[in-house]
Amino acid sequence: MNKIDLSGRCAVVTGGAQGFGRAITERFIASGAKVAIWDHDQTLAEKTAKEIGAGVTAFKVDVSDLAAVEKTRDATLKAFGKIDILVNNAGIAGVNKTVWETDLDEWRKVLRINLDGPFICCKAIVPSMVKQNYGRIVNIASIAGKEGNPNAAHYSASKAGLIALTKSLGKELAGYEIAVNAVTPAAARTAIFDQMTQQHIDFMLSKIPKGRFVLVEELAAMVAWLASEDCAFSTGAVFDISGGRATY
Ligand SMILES: NC(=O)c1ccc[n+]([C@@H]2O[C@H](COP(=O)([O-])OP(=O)(O)OC[C@H]3O[C@@H](n4cnc5c(N)ncnc54)[C@H](O)[C@@H]3O)[C@@H](O)[C@H]2O)c1
Repeated sequence: MNKIDLSGRCAVVTGGAQGFGRAITERFIASGAKVAIWDHDQTLAEKTAKEIGAGVTAFKVDVSDLAAVEKTRDATLKAFGKIDILVNNAGIAGVNKTVWETDLDEWRKVLRINLDGPFICCKAIVPSMVKQNYGRIVNIASIAGKEGNPNAAHYSASKAGLIALTKSLGKELAGYEIAVNAVTPAAARTAIFDQMTQQHIDFMLSKIPKGRFVLVEELAAMVAWLASEDCAFSTGAVFDISGGRATY
């Protein structure tokens, strides 16, 4: 593992209880940061925080609830004194169906968590980053947001929206020492697979030239660099980690 220096940094990782978020939390801790896991699964978040050990605190919050996020931000600032890094990682896959078979409520649920959630967390945390003139925001989008996966229009649209949010916010904050970037991973074998059909999982694998799923540790390594001081000039950008699938 290459050493990334995050010593003294305080991070919020949404959806940090498992999957990508847990791997990112572990990598941040190994790099010297403190991490607040923001997850709506309180039991799992607390178990994960305990397993990873010193430096991790679990907070229960639904990222799509502005009032709850503001309350959790205040509690995190009280516990850590500052927030230097925000990783908008919490997300869901939604039910795999064609556009015309998808319920409107299901469409709205995916957009609410995957797109409103990052917007709400940025809205709540950016003012304190501006005040301290330092911040690193990493949004976990998806290759689906670039390509549009069939039977996942809600998910693909939410991630395309997150890419556009990244580009807009990056420009708004370019005058500060605040970098805002997105990553677009290919599929990784995490609990999110439980929400998908086997047909959809097979489709995603068939599209990856490297012939395998990305490992959560591989994604965490990219996010750790994007969350570090070294990432000073790249902002409003989208970083590919799709095993060769993306052509742009
Ligand atoms: N695994 C993949 O194949 C893959 C590929 C590309 C992008 N992503 C994205 O990466 C992110 C993490 O995915 P994962 O595979 O680790 O998923 P996961 O299901 O393993 O973990 C997601 C975590 O987010 C939490 N969460 C869900 N909704 C929440 C909410 N409203 N408020 C707070 N917490 C909430 C869950 O409790 C869970 O702990 C997601 O945004 C996902 O879309 C995943």
